[in-house]
Parts: sequence; structure tokens; C-alpha cells
Amino acid sequence: MNKLMLCCAFILAAVSASAQLNIVPLPKHITENGTSFTIVKDTKIYYEQGLKAQAELLNAALSPATGFDFEMIQSKQGMQNGIILKFDKSSAANKEGYRLTVKNNAVVLSGGTAAGVFYGTQTLLQMLPAAIHDQTRQKGVTWKIRGADIEDAPLWGWRGMMLDVSRYFFSKDYVLKFIDMMSMYKMNVLHLHLVDDAGWRLEIKKYPKLTSVGAWRGDGAERTGGYYTQEDIKEMVAYASLRNVDIIPEIEIPAHTLSSIAAYPFLSCTGEQYVVQTQHSISKEILCVGKESTFDFMADVFKETFALFPSKYIHIGGDEANYDRWKACPHCQKRKADLGLKTEKELQVYFNQRVQKMVSKYSKTIVGWNEIIEDGLTDKAVGMIWNDQQKAFKAVEDGHYTVMTLTEYSYFDFPESKIPGEVKAAGWRSPISLEKVYQLNPMLKGMDEKYRPQILGASAALWSDQFIHGTLLQEIPLLNENRSEKYFDYLSFPRMAAMAEVCWTPVARQGWTDFEQRMRSQYKRYDHAGYGYRVPQPKLISNEKAADGYLLKLENIVDGAEIRYSTDGTRASAYSAVYTQPIKIKQLADFSAITVVNRNVYSLPFYFPEKYEQFKNYGELVGEWKPSKVKGKEFGLFEMNASGKINGNGNYQLAFWYTDGDSRLEIKSVEVYKNGVKVTEDVHDGFTGGSQQNNLYKFSIKEYETGAEFTIKALVRGDISNDSNGAVFIKKL
Ligand code: ACM
Ligand code: ZN
Repeated sequence: MNKLMLCCAFILAAVSASAQLNIVPLPKHITENGTSFTIVKDTKIYYEQGLKAQAELLNAALSPATGFDFEMIQSKQGMQNGIILKFDKSSAANKEGYRLTVKNNAVVLSGGTAAGVFYGTQTLLQMLPAAIHDQTRQKGVTWKIRGADIEDAPLWGWRGMMLDVSRYFFSKDYVLKFIDMMSMYKMNVLHLHLVDDAGWRLEIKKYPKLTSVGAWRGDGAERTGGYYTQEDIKEMVAYASLRNVDIIPEIEIPAHTLSSIAAYPFLSCTGEQYVVQTQHSISKEILCVGKESTFDFMADVFKETFALFPSKYIHIGGDEANYDRWKACPHCQKRKADLGLKTEKELQVYFNQRVQKMVSKYSKTIVGWNEIIEDGLTDKAVGMIWNDQQKAFKAVEDGHYTVMTLTEYSYFDFPESKIPGEVKAAGWRSPISLEKVYQLNPMLKGMDEKYRPQILGASAALWSDQFIHGTLLQEIPLLNENRSEKYFDYLSFPRMAAMAEVCWTPVARQGWTDFEQRMRSQYKRYDHAGYGYRVPQPKLISNEKAADGYLLKLENIVDGAEIRYSTDGTRASAYSAVYTQPIKIKQLADFSAITVVNRNVYSLPFYFPEKYEQFKNYGELVGEWKPSKVKGKEFGLFEMNASGKINGNGNYQLAFWYTDGDSRLEIKSVEVYKNGVKVTEDVHDGFTGGSQQNNLYKFSIKEYETGAEFTIKALVRGDISNDSNGAVFIKKL
């Protein structure tokens, strides 16, 4: 392709992007019909009996920005010249489906159920100018909607988000706002992680200390926490229910519940008094499965929980139980012996089974992390697959249901990138970019089609253990200089949009390039709605090698924003030159560019990173490990040539840094050889990736000889598999 053609292709792409309706998630069928409908102050909202709430929600969504006070008319006949909400039982095949026709004199929206109609209204909002999301009157906007016939229904029935309200107490108001954010993208399950070591968040009247003690951590000025009263929960549930969001409470057992043990020490094996955790780790104190009082407590807690949450599901956690206490507990060991069980794992299965029986009286289905559906549960449960996709295959064979909450696609506590200046967030795996989220398919590769009915959908998880400290949601620090959106908005948007589309849109209609184009107009909607978000960097289209450098072509992927760039090795700022056409640069390393929404809101830089620049304080690269150099779960030798890098007598430091892969690297020892003879070593356990520990090795060289060959041999393994990548750096101290 010559340059002229490239240029034309680029313009065509831009035109077609602006000429389509940019709805996210993409509906099943859209046909534009060439007409249009304009909302004016006399526009009426008609609704059939049973759809009053949806009509009121629509009115409330349209009124602030338009400034119009719409007349609302309940009617069965004569609905015309307005926005018409009605039932259409013929389209009730999928209870969340709807049909939407926008034509010259009417917007006709019909759904099999109120939920379908609600989703139709969300689509309608996305067909209006972005200013519709504003809470203040927008002057001079024509509220025109392009004519179209839309038929839509979701691919998956479980389109979830999890909020970890335990490690960070999200206020009721934030939760309500979060439900609005979910609604915009037709997400329908809000999983509240109400219980963990760092806080119990649900008022239980029979056990007041769960909240008077368990909801608070730290002392004095450091004291922080909070909880939802039963009235708060009722308000949240009602708010969610109107928006077709099912709130699923998670009451964790048997681990991750030090907050309840701190409140009621009889719940643990030792009965000792503990305090609610103030630093993130997984407590070894877990509920005692030997004492009947634990089950009485659970029954009481469930009774009050179920009176508040109408969901048919109860999430019981079940992950990461450390069995040390059960192994040492006479009650637990007696239980194990009485039941003839061989392992503590079987005791956990017993616990799950009893709880399952307990909640089945309320017709509730248990949901848990993938640990609960591994073995032994004969009654059907829902496994949230997080750290091991293989568990999904066994679960469905065993008759269980699954929801994909996969760490590598949908843990939104991970940042989107490693770019310097990215928010401080979880670091035990690789970042999760918007594009990575978009690659999720809940129908896992290799899953037999016959199991489709047992795959319920997917959920993203906003863990907050990175934010355990402090009383306020952390503001994005000054690096993003001046952006003060709240952390969790930033972690959620725009990734929730990708999550929504892979859960809603038929796979055949999904496509990253098209999604990226449709996303261009979403950011303005966030601006108007007051939602924080991560601004994407400019997109690199090409960097052709030219005679004395490179020709760089970038694309701005945020409508209304501009690209600003710098070519002198400094980082681009909101005051740098505006990019208008491809530019020539001498050195890639001197270039950077940002997306500028306004002087206060802009992206992290796009630039050409030097490999390993984030480790530059650790000296010179001496070796890289990749899966082929790691044996796997057994220790094996990983050799590095350090000749020239060990270059005199003195003290040296060797630093191991994980960069990618499923496994962190475990290091047992480091030995240094001079001309094939061992001269020194540092033997200690170290880890890199995940919870980084003792990953620095030190040794001294006392009898350096010019010209000697130095080799370093490290004994390493991957802690899950050999899928680990990283680099080792050497530095003379
Ligand atoms: C989990 O992340 N422990 C479910
Ligand atoms: Zn016990």
C-alpha cells in the first residue's frame, strides 16, 4: 500500500466510525432506517401498565440535561408522537430482550419484561448526544436520535461486577452510583464481598458486635470502617432491583473472616481474642468446623441476610482456607474422626454441605470461589472460577454451574498498564488492559457445547486489598496530574464496557477494532455523568522507518480530545504541541504523546519503552528466564553468564524480577562460579512475582582475576508451572 492509499484508508475508517451508532454493548441487530426523532419539550412518555417505574426512570434520565418536564401518560391505546414503552410478549424469549424502533414520530420500545424495557431505555440514552448524561441543563443541544430498528437480547444471563466492600468500605452512595455505572452497560449482578479479615459490613441484629467491633479497624486517628445498616441494604436492594441488578451477598466461610472472629472469639478454633486486620494478609484464624456453635451462628446470620436480599443466590466464599488451626483443634479433629474423613479439605466439603443444606430451606443456591466446587458437593452450586480454568471443566461435568471471574481477564484491581505513573494497584500478575478484558469468552476454549447451559456468564472483581489503608477513597496522585477521579471509577471504566460487551453481544458480532471505534464516544458520556475513567493513550498506527528516523502516525481514540506530543525526550504534557498529521522523529526514545481531554484530564504517555526500564536501579541485565528455562514445580538450574559483569573485587547484588506469566519464580540459592569453580553463594528462599520476598541475593568477590569467566547458577522453580518470565540484574554495591 502506498502512502496515499494508507492516508485514504485512514480517513475512510474515521468517517465510518462517526457514521454508525456507537452503542456499547453492541446490540444483536441494528438497522438504520434513515429517519430521526427529536426529543422536544412537548414529547410525551407513554407507558403500559406495569412499566411505570421504567417510564419514571427514563424521565429522570432525560429531564436534567434537556430541562424538559415530560408528560407521562399511562395508556394502552393511542400511544403516538412520543416515546412509547410497552410489553411485547412475543419478544419474551429472552426475558432481558427488547425491540426499539426510532422513527419520525415515535420511539417505540417493547420488551418481554420490565427488565427488557429498562435495557431498551439504556440503549436509547446511548443514541442521544453525550450531554444527555449531565445532571445540569445543557443549552443549545438538539436531542436528535437517528432512526433505527434494533432487536436485542443478552448473550449471557450473569453479567456481574464484584465490589470488595470489606477491605475498603464503599459508602452506600458509592454503591448506588456504581449500580448506575453498571446499568449504563446492562450489567445485572452486583456481588458484594461483605466479609473479610479486614471488615464485616452487614448489620446483623442478633450479633451486634459483628458491626460494633468487626466493622472497624485500627486505633485512634487510624480507625476506619463502616457498615451497611439493614435499612441501607433495603435501599440498595430496591434501587438495584428497579434497574434489574441482582445484589448477591457474600458471607465468607470458613476463611477470610477474622472480622467476625474478632467480634465473637467463640467462632474460631482457639477462642483467643484477635483484632480486625489492619494490613492485608490472609488470616490463619478461620471458623471452627468442630463446634456446633459455629453452625448456629451461620444459621442466624443467614436468616437475617435472607430477609434483606431477595437474590436466589448466597455467596459463601470458600477460597484460600489455611487448615493449620483445624489440624490443631480438638473439636475439628473429633469431627473429622467421627465422620471418618481423611483430610481437612474434606472437612471443608462437610462444612459447605451443611451450609448448603441450611440455605436450601430458603430455596437459595450457594455460590462460591472455585475451591467449593472441586469435590464432594452433590447438590448443584455455582463456582466462580478465578485462579484455575480447569476447575470449570470438572465443575460442569459434576453438574455445577460456573461464572468466569478469571484473574487474568477480570480482576479490575490490577492496573491497565505498567506505564510509569499508572495507578498503584495489584501487582501479583500482569496488568489487564482494556483489550485483554475484551478477549474474555466465558465459553472457555475446549468447553463442550453441551455444557453451555451450565455456564452462567462472567463477573469482574474490584478487590480493594490494595486500599486497606486510609479512610477515604484514594485520589489519583499528582502524576496524572490533576485528575481527581476516584480510584475505583478509574479501575472500572472503561474496562466495564469491555466486560459488558463480551457478556452481552453475540460472539460473531464482537470485534476489538469495532469496539475500540465505538468506545471513542463513550468517554464524553462519562464526563457528563461525572464518572471517573482512565483516558486511553493515543494509538500508534504505524512507525515507518524513514531515511533519517521514523514517520509516526497516531490516532486519537477519544472523541473531543486531542493528541499532544513531544519529540525532545521530555514527557508530553497538556501544553505540548498538538498532533495534526504524521510526524518525523529521529529517535523513538525521544518521543511521547498523550490524549488530552482538557487541561486537567489527560492520559498517561504513549512512548517507546526501553525494555526493563522499570528495573534500571538494579544494575545491568545478566539473564532472562522464560518458560523453557524453568523446569516447573521442581527446582532446576538456571545459568547466567556474568563475565564482564563481575568485574573486580567487591560486593554484588543480584536482583530477580518477574515480568510475566502464570507463575511467580521461587529461588532457593545462588552460586557464583569462577572458571568453573564455585567461589561463593547466597542460599535463602526468595520469590518474585505475586508477594515479592527476599528476591535480592548478595555475595562478595575476593579473588577477582582479569579474564576469568564468571557463571551464576540459580536454583529456581515456578510455583504453579514453568510459565514464568523475568530478568535478573547485577549491581556492584
Ligand atoms: C480470590 O481472589 N481469592 C477469590
Ligand atoms: Zn476447630
